[in-house]
Amino acid sequence: MIKGFIFDLDGVITDTAELHFEAWKALSDEMGWAFDHEVNDKLRGISRTDSIKVILDHNNTSLDDKTLDALAAKKNDIYVKSLDKMTSDNYLPGAEELLTHLRTEGFLVALGSASKNAEKVLLQLNANKYFDIIGDGHSVSKSKPAPDIFLFGAEKLKLQPEECIVFEDAESGINAAKAGGFYSVGIGPKDRVGHADLRFDTMAEATLFEVKAHFKDLFS
Ligand code: BG6
Ligand code: MG
Repeated sequence: MIKGFIFDLDGVITDTAELHFEAWKALSDEMGWAFDHEVNDKLRGISRTDSIKVILDHNNTSLDDKTLDALAAKKNDIYVKSLDKMTSDNYLPGAEELLTHLRTEGFLVALGSASKNAEKVLLQLNANKYFDIIGDGHSVSKSKPAPDIFLFGAEKLKLQPEECIVFEDAESGINAAKAGGFYSVGIGPKDRVGHADLRFDTMAEATLFEVKAHFKDLFS
């Protein structure tokens, strides 16, 4: 039976994927690197350090670790500044409604994000009230597609993976959910999250009613 939900943050609760894009794009322009939305999609769910490595690979470039860390920090400064403008108006359509509904129905809810900035994002959105447990980029060392962040959330909620549904917009995130033995809901196109147990194009369609209808044997 499903007792809990674990949500990715960026691209599920709020559209930070676009803010991450703008920050990486600003850094790439300064460095003369090619960077577009297609490359940005590959960065969904993966850590900051892994992200810069993907961008460097795309440009057939490599850098020593010190330079790499400094440039990733520079991108992060741009990204964090852009978060100042975020308010509770910036939930993705449907996200806050779903979180509210889960609260009303008494489900346990955890955050399972790779971001080290999750605390700030939740604060800007005023979203802490929707979560029983916060798992973020500081909680585990192995990032998605490893299942660790979701296992962390389930353990803190005192639930088994098969009692939880994970919401994810990233290919690596759905892989992580599957590797951990969780049920998964993918948010986004088929070529990105088509391997999820259930997929919606956007969060607006991902209502509790639809989720329950799909996993009907798992809800009492
Ligand atoms: C994930 C995003 O949630 O967090 C990735 O999907 C991002 O794109 C990762 O790289 C790490 O985020 P941050 O905020 O720690 O740089
Ligand atoms: Mg995401």
